[in-house]
Amino acid sequence: MTRPDDSFSFPRTGIEVRNRSVLAAMTNQQSNPDGTLSEQEIEWLLRRAEGSFGIVTTAASHVVPEGQGWDGEMGVWGDHQLPGLTRLATEIRDRGAVSLAQIFHGGMRSPQRLTGVQPVSSSVNPTSDSDSGETRELTETEIESLIGSFAAAAARCEKAGFDGVEIHGAHGYLICQFLGIETNRRKDRWGGSLENRARFLLEIISRIKESTSEKFTIGVRISPEYRKLGVTMEDSLSLTTLLVEAGLDFIHISCWDCFVPPAHFDDPRPITEIFAEKISRKVPIISAGAIWSTKQALEVIEQGADLVGVARSGIGHANWASNLNDPEYNPQRPPFTEEHLLSQGLSPIFVNYMRNWPGFVE
Ligand SMILES: Cc1cc2nc3c(=O)[nH]c(=O)nc-3n(C[C@H](O)[C@H](O)[C@H](O)COP(=O)(O)O)c2cc1C
Repeated sequence: MTRPDDSFSFPRTGIEVRNRSVLAAMTNQQSNPDGTLSEQEIEWLLRRAEGSFGIVTTAASHVVPEGQGWDGEMGVWGDHQLPGLTRLATEIRDRGAVSLAQIFHGGMRSPQRLTGVQPVSSSVNPTSDSDSGETRELTETEIESLIGSFAAAAARCEKAGFDGVEIHGAHGYLICQFLGIETNRRKDRWGGSLENRARFLLEIISRIKESTSEKFTIGVRISPEYRKLGVTMEDSLSLTTLLVEAGLDFIHISCWDCFVPPAHFDDPRPITEIFAEKISRKVPIISAGAIWSTKQALEVIEQGADLVGVARSGIGHANWASNLNDPEYNPQRPPFTEEHLLSQGLSPIFVNYMRNWPGFVE
């Protein structure tokens, strides 16, 4: 029986992880306007590496300037970002954790106010802010160019010393917009069937593999369901077959709550269990959502996850992962006081950002 404090090894790349915990990607708005990392952003992640997390994932980071989704977002699109990325990757490794950079493009959620250009998407879609109007549909040439930008960003992350990348295909951003039948109404080879809607993601994976070494870990984060965009459990389950064929190192399912069944799918089991049955150990699974205690981490492993992703418990408790050998560990949950969050290595900017999450800051 696997326990949360057991080590793990990625079968293809041989990268060793000291336990089953993953600090999930968390946007914190602490990066500099040119996408370089700030001291505060490095500090908050290093505290989690010190706190025994097996894998430390960066915040979602845009692969081209036009893909930026919000203020203070980390970028992986230029060599001027290399010194900060190198320091972060090196110091995460020095603290015994594996590092992943989460790479993405916001698509219809990259506001013109930030990027200076009309947002793009798989098709013409509404945007998230009133100033941006509608998106423009990407041309074939632009799609090819963006695939190259994802690959260049991954190569840059490897050069900086990261152990791998997590391609952000979840939460409604550009890759998710290609996957969703509502936001992707293209008639060409990038739209229509699931194979076509997944082509953007699959080409990104293939190009990243060509641009990085065999030791570089490559995974994808997906939303099992995202109804507004037309991402369904049926499609997401079929997508895993394509992802397994693509030779990925992990699939990260973003459940939001690992302990409830999917909202729009006729199966009473938790989402992880349904995916684990389908994937049947052909590729490691990370699952995330509402994990606070060691018992809950164990439960998600029993549902079939190889690694468990945590976000909010990792914000509240920098040393969360060092307690995984205690089966009774059940840390304090929100609301947290500002003083407590500052003591856990959050800057005042990050604490302020957390006020957007209802009930998190006291
Ligand atoms: C402050 C904050 C920022 C987040 N930013 C990202 C992000 O950049 N990329 C991403 O894939 N998920 C992001 N998420 C979602 C988390 O990775 C995670 O899936 C979600 O919070 C559920 O896990 P939890 O219950 O452990 O918090 C964010 C969550 C929080 C709380």
